[in-house]
Amino acid sequence: MPTLLKIDVSPRGDYSVSRQLTKQFASDWQKAHNGTIVDRDLVKTNLPFVDLPWIAGAYSTPDQHTPEQKGAMKVSNDLIDELFAVDHIVIGTPMYNFSIPAILKAYIDHIVRVGRTYSPSYEGLVKGKKVTIIIASGGVYTPGSHLESYNVESSYLRQILGFIGLTDITFVLAGGTNDVNQGKISSEDFIASFSESVAEAAK
Ligand SMILES: Cc1cc2nc3c(=O)[nH]c(=O)nc-3n(C[C@H](O)[C@H](O)[C@H](O)COP(=O)(O)O)c2cc1C
Repeated sequence: MPTLLKIDVSPRGDYSVSRQLTKQFASDWQKAHNGTIVDRDLVKTNLPFVDLPWIAGAYSTPDQHTPEQKGAMKVSNDLIDELFAVDHIVIGTPMYNFSIPAILKAYIDHIVRVGRTYSPSYEGLVKGKKVTIIIASGGVYTPGSHLESYNVESSYLRQILGFIGLTDITFVLAGGTNDVNQGKISSEDFIASFSESVAEAAK
């Protein structure tokens, strides 16, 4: 039975466009694959930032770890084990300052680890999985438009996930949420305008 890892990032709860779209994605995916869904809500995960015990632990062997380093590595190991155990990953994230929110960066810092998700010779070790990334942004960063280059979030996520072996990535750019906040379009209509691309990615 296939497994989907659903990663949510937005702190906006039910108002969040990216959360509504990952919910839609999970429902479409479930219909298509009848599998198991693992929820990883980064807002509730309370991830620590990388610190000295983490760094010392990541660059030494488990038999050398102090209790403090063991604790720091456990968070990272659990997230990496979770990643390896699934077939498809969907990340629903806001755009903040043209890039990823800090809690998503904290997550990435835990899962990009030498000897676990990439080899010492920089070969990605997380292979054979599909990834769908749904980015909600106030502005619109249509490929080919003059604003496209401001969107460093898509290129960064493609690069860092590719680095650990996740190269089969589909993006859904849910740009223009400012129109929802300003009442120019209802949240339902805005979400519905992405239903086809979300359903396609969930196949
Ligand atoms: C701190 C912050 C920074 C933001 N930076 C950008 C930005 O650089 N570009 C943009 O188009 N929208 C930006 N936005 C708007 C959000 O991307 C937009 O509200 C989006 O819908 C948030 O995702 P969510 O609906 O899933 O919470 C920003 C919002 C916040 C709160």
